[in-house]
Amino acid sequence: MKVEGRHFRTIWTEGEGPQERLRIIDQTALPHEFRILDLHSVADVCRAIREMWVRGAGLIGATAAWGVWVAAREAAHLPADEFAVRMAMSMEALRVTRPTASNLVWALQRQQKALAGLSGAEAVAAAHAEAQAIADEDAEFCRRIGEHGKRIIEAIAAKKPGQTVNILTHCNAGWLAFVDWGSALSPVYAAFDAGIPVHVWVDETRPRNQGASLTAWELGQHGVPHSLIADNTGGHLMQHGMVDMVITGADRVTRCGDAANKIGTYLKALAAADNGVPFYVALPSSTFDFALRDGVREIPIEERSADEVRVMTGALLDGDGQAGQGTASVLICPENTGARNWAFDVTPARLISGIITERGVCAASEDGVLGLYPEQR
Ligand code: MRU
Repeated sequence: MKVEGRHFRTIWTEGEGPQERLRIIDQTALPHEFRILDLHSVADVCRAIREMWVRGAGLIGATAAWGVWVAAREAAHLPADEFAVRMAMSMEALRVTRPTASNLVWALQRQQKALAGLSGAEAVAAAHAEAQAIADEDAEFCRRIGEHGKRIIEAIAAKKPGQTVNILTHCNAGWLAFVDWGSALSPVYAAFDAGIPVHVWVDETRPRNQGASLTAWELGQHGVPHSLIADNTGGHLMQHGMVDMVITGADRVTRCGDAANKIGTYLKALAAADNGVPFYVALPSSTFDFALRDGVREIPIEERSADEVRVMTGALLDGDGQAGQGTASVLICPENTGARNWAFDVTPARLISGIITERGVCAASEDGVLGLYPEQR
């Protein structure tokens, strides 16, 4: 996608041979600063995922895949048996960075297969090829999600000629959450580019405000009309006919269609069901966990630092209300107030109108999901 008119992916390498380096967009600096960082070591890659310099299910997976390449380069000088031990340790360090998104373990398993029996330069080359393949596939699958999801938006637009289609989204499942395009926002970009009048209600998405900081920023870069709303506004808008559909992303989806996504998604799904608003979840196949059935009971939910709830960070304003004075963090509760911070919740399949994948749209049910992925039967 484009930033100030220049094409970017969220993760890429630059340079040749020993000079080749891994680069990312630092998402903790957005929207106030567009900053590119180099990840030099496996420790850097783990930190980038854990501290959410990169985040979003697809991008976490792609970063872990590139992390394996970085690990292989670090260990390439070792004899084969020591190389294998070091790689196992690095993969474990990458695996435990964040627990909820399926894409992380999925990417590591792909790398494990690609590297089986290899060491040294051969392993480095194989890890590079597999990371690049995972990144390219992520971008292509998200592009296809856009094409399939666009048809749903088209159908809604056809029922209200000349009027704008209002789409509500939660958190950030745009190109910043993947390598390119995104999941929930890819249909929005496809519809907008096809000339369908769309407008997006952007949930701010406390506590880390991915909606306010990231979704609003990337929609703005693409020129898509949008309005930021406080997290609790969606139900009110739905009651007043101001939301035509909801599309969210997902971090892990079971074979029966239960979907873990950013905390607060479940409440939006309840409001959508109560108001007859279609609620879609968009994801590439790497986000399915085909081993799980019951999302509420089985999907591991990350609990993050309480300070993400207690403290907010943003741009400082001058006396005229203008930004550009740097950023600052502020405490928003009494100093001794404790907090809890669950990062995700699970929306049961019964509240989901359909799942949009790279293979098409299916019902949120075991039959629906396995209809698209028969090899998982
Ligand atoms: O904690 P994050 O920002 O990594 O959470 C992931 C998300 O952005 C959302 O839950 C998103 O809708 C799914 S990831 C494509």
